[in-house]
Amino acid sequence: MGEVHVIDHPLIQHKITLIRDKETGPKDFRDLVSEVAMLMAYEVTRDMPVESIEVETPITRTSGKQLAGKKVAVVAILRAGLGMVDGVLKLIPAAKVGHIGLYRDPDTLRPVEYYCKLPSDVSERELIMLDPMLATGGSACAAIQFAKERGATNIKLVNLIAAPEGIRLVQKVHPDAEIYVAAVDERLDSHGYIVPGLGDAGDRLFGTK
Ligand code: PRP
Ligand code: URA
Repeated sequence: MGEVHVIDHPLIQHKITLIRDKETGPKDFRDLVSEVAMLMAYEVTRDMPVESIEVETPITRTSGKQLAGKKVAVVAILRAGLGMVDGVLKLIPAAKVGHIGLYRDPDTLRPVEYYCKLPSDVSERELIMLDPMLATGGSACAAIQFAKERGATNIKLVNLIAAPEGIRLVQKVHPDAEIYVAAVDERLDSHGYIVPGLGDAGDRLFGTK
C-alpha cells in the first residue's frame, strides 16, 4: 500500500493555517500555496539518488554529489494544481511540466476529464503530481490512471490538505503511488468539501467566486 507522508514542518503548519483563513485573499493565497509547495518539494525529493563527482573549488579538487536518478516531470491537476507548480519548479527547475484537466461534477462528485498533455518521455521520469485538495480521491485516481496509461510508473501525489476518504481511495486504487500531504483533515461534508479544509481551492486561487 502506498505510504502516506505527512509533512508537518512548523513553517508548513503556520502557512496552512493562513491558507485556511477565509480572510486570506487570492494574492496571499497564491503566494502561500506556492511557498508550501516549495517546502513540501524539499521532503518529496528527499529519497532522490545522488552520485559522486569531482569538483574544482577555487582552493582544491574535491568530490561532491549530484542528482543521479530519473529526471522529474511535475504534473498539475487543473485548475488548482497550477498554484503549486512554480513552488516546486523553484527547487527542480529542470523538470518538465504536464497538465491534466479534470473538474468534479458538483452533483455526482465524479471527475470529468477535459485535457491531458504530458511530456512524451513520461515513462522515463519520476512524476510529481500536484493538487492542493484530495477530497473523495476521484480526481487524483483519474489523474494517476491517465499518467499510467501514458507509461508513468513512478508517481508521487502531493496535496496540501487531504480527507481520510481520499487517502483511502488512492491507496486502494493505486497502491503503488506515494502520497505526500501537509495536513489530514477530519472528513468530507455532504457536498464533498473537506472539513475544516480551505473551501474551493481553484476559486480561492483565481478569485472566481
Ligand atoms: C478540486 C481539487 C481537486 C478536486 C478534489 O478541483 O483541486 O482536483 O476538487 O476533489 P476529489 O478528491 O473529490 O476529486 P475542482 O474539481 O473543484 O476543479 P478546479 O480545480 O478546476 O476548480
Ligand atoms: N475541492 C476543493 O477545492 N475543496 C474541497 O474541500 C474539496 C474539493
